[in-house]
Amino acid sequence: MNPIILAIESSCDETSAAIIKKGKVLNNIIATQSVHENYGGVVPELASRAHQQNIVPVVEEALKGSGVNKQDLDAVAFTKGPGLLGALLVGSSFAKSLAQGLNIPLIGVNHMQAHILAHFIDDPKPTFPFLCLTVSGGHTQIVSVKDYLDMEIVGETQDDAVGEAFDKSAKLLDLPYPGGPLIDKYAQNGNAHAFDFPDSEVAELDFSFSGIKTAFLYFLRDRLKEDQNFIKNNLNDICASLQRCLVNMLTKRLIKASKKYGIKEVAIAGGVSANSGLRKRLDELAKEYHWNVYIPDFEYCTDNAGMIAMAAHYKYLAGDFEPLTTSPDPRMKF
Ligand code: KG4
Ligand code: ZN
Repeated sequence: MNPIILAIESSCDETSAAIIKKGKVLNNIIATQSVHENYGGVVPELASRAHQQNIVPVVEEALKGSGVNKQDLDAVAFTKGPGLLGALLVGSSFAKSLAQGLNIPLIGVNHMQAHILAHFIDDPKPTFPFLCLTVSGGHTQIVSVKDYLDMEIVGETQDDAVGEAFDKSAKLLDLPYPGGPLIDKYAQNGNAHAFDFPDSEVAELDFSFSGIKTAFLYFLRDRLKEDQNFIKNNLNDICASLQRCLVNMLTKRLIKASKKYGIKEVAIAGGVSANSGLRKRLDELAKEYHWNVYIPDFEYCTDNAGMIAMAAHYKYLAGDFEPLTTSPDPRMKF
């Protein structure tokens, strides 16, 4: 079975469409919404409207670039959740209409599973079982991956996601949204040991980022009282130190999980896996603990339909389809 599938991603602020054929992603078109930049976060209503505008041209471009006609499609896949309801509704309604019009099956994909399955788009691919640290703007999880569609969350955040911790801290530094990549950029030229921020201890493999967020807020408030140019004069050092602490919070639990489950195949996924500090630290840990570390191509780290297509491929092979009466699930679990 070598299905040709159109996949659509619309869970947050990226409208994306991809075509997969014989398990190979042929085309992955992503329209990033710049409309949120001045708001310090994604505005759900604006995201839904932008998806409405983008979805048809993005799908047309994905089809055109891959040389696939609509009539060649064996299935249509969409992100069922988790995500913003209004945003998910745009992708799911479009996918349902197309599946009905072409009389082909519909596939509903879990966005977080798809982030993990992005590892199967290109080589090298991890072998089962592996651990995946999934770090995005909405989630922070350690997942034990036993098979393509057999995964278990073994640790997760009790409050904010690490991407949110990056973005909210960036906002306090007056950086535009999303601030994660900017913190990463300034961190490259800073002293990572200039300042220290606390980790919050929670249940074994779980995370909590609310403590470091508050500590960072008070730290800036106190320093700004003494010197109103503190941020401007120390931006690189602040970013490098914060990034070191956030990355350590992640990798500390990952080391624990690797020891607990005796697994040395370690992957990262989600938007924050683009972070250069995290990538560097994982390279060090790979040497220290003899891990095989897998990091997806940059294109497949942040939200994209290529990963939805990859997940859809395995769901198609498993015969796991969605009825046309389905609706999105903003809090979808595995
Ligand atoms: O997976 P993703 O594209 O969307 C969600 O599903 O949330 O992740 C977006 C998150 C944002 O919080 C963004 O700031 C963060 O990933 N991010 C980064 C970097 N690139 C993206 N955070 C730190 N360093 C980066 N280089
Ligand atoms: Zn995501």
